[in-house]
Amino acid sequence: MQVENNVIQIRGLKKSYKRMEVLKGVDLNIKKGSIFCLLGSNGAGKTTMVKILATLLKADSGEVILSGCDVKKSPEQVRSVISLTGQYAAVDGLLTARENLRMVGRLNHINDVKAKTDHLLRQFNLEYVANRPVSTFSGGMRRRLDIAMSLIGNPEIIFLDEPTTGLDPQSRIEMWKIIREMAAAGVTVFLTTQYIEEAEQLANHIAVLHEGIIITQGSAQELKSKLAGGAVLLGFGDLSSYITAQETLNGYSCKIDDDTLTIEVATDGSVKQMANLLSILNGTNIAFLEQKQASLEDVFLTLVAN
Ligand SMILES: Nc1ncnc2c1ncn2[C@@H]1O[C@H](COP(=O)(O)OP(=O)(O)OP(=O)(O)O)[C@@H](O)[C@H]1O
Ligand SMILES: [Mg+2]
Repeated sequence: MQVENNVIQIRGLKKSYKRMEVLKGVDLNIKKGSIFCLLGSNGAGKTTMVKILATLLKADSGEVILSGCDVKKSPEQVRSVISLTGQYAAVDGLLTARENLRMVGRLNHINDVKAKTDHLLRQFNLEYVANRPVSTFSGGMRRRLDIAMSLIGNPEIIFLDEPTTGLDPQSRIEMWKIIREMAAAGVTVFLTTQYIEEAEQLANHIAVLHEGIIITQGSAQELKSKLAGGAVLLGFGDLSSYITAQETLNGYSCKIDDDTLTIEVATDGSVKQMANLLSILNGTNIAFLEQKQASLEDVFLTLVAN
């Protein structure tokens, strides 16, 4: 099915290295202007997938359409709409940030390289080091310059393979800001990560790659609600209600806390079970009730544990 809104369409993507099957039939649709996050453990096949999408590696079978172009049939056309960061990791250390940007701009035949360079230096908070040789830059500064260089050709889609691995917490937060700004400017961001928190912070859409297939996908919220289970936290207004409730809930899986007069009851998350719980506790003085959802980490661990 071709949906116009989907700037990336992947069908039945397969890739093996010798006899090792890495991708066993991946299907994905990614919306234009969104931040998509491919989440997977070490060796799951994230980089392999990014390389295929960025035309650096050939798939064994399947179809990948980027912005209407088939990666197999028209790789040149695909290259004109995408950008893969990391490709300028070998930026010329002797040149300054400004010189590196101008060089890439000229190589890309960009009109008005000077204005574009100034704009990117500002956007990536590199103005204050613009005239310093890149060899003197920190890891975070280099990575910002790398992304700025990837954007000079006005790509529609940008691939970021683990953009924050190895960055300190402050640089990571800065990178998240940059990623959000890129998406707000209309660029579709395809990023890979091993960090669940990163996916939750950034992504409109998350897909979990495990053992060669996408085992689940959706927004962080959707993934969390997909996982059956969770708990209801009940707080009681007085000690006698708290004790009565414990007796009533005999047989349920509960965690009690005498200090706060709360009882956490495990549920399957269904409305029916919640209604049942409230009906048997009718008459007790419930001061508050809170539904506790599974964390994204719980979802991930539950799914990959099988
Ligand atoms: N060129 C290659 N030849 C043989 N095997 C490879 C090659 N590239 C990757 N692999 C193997 O394919 C599997 C997937 O690798 P890939 O680099 O795509 O994983 P990844 O999800 O990016 O991992 P990481 O989180 O460590 O970056 C791994 O088992 C890896 O060892
Ligand atoms: Mg990788």
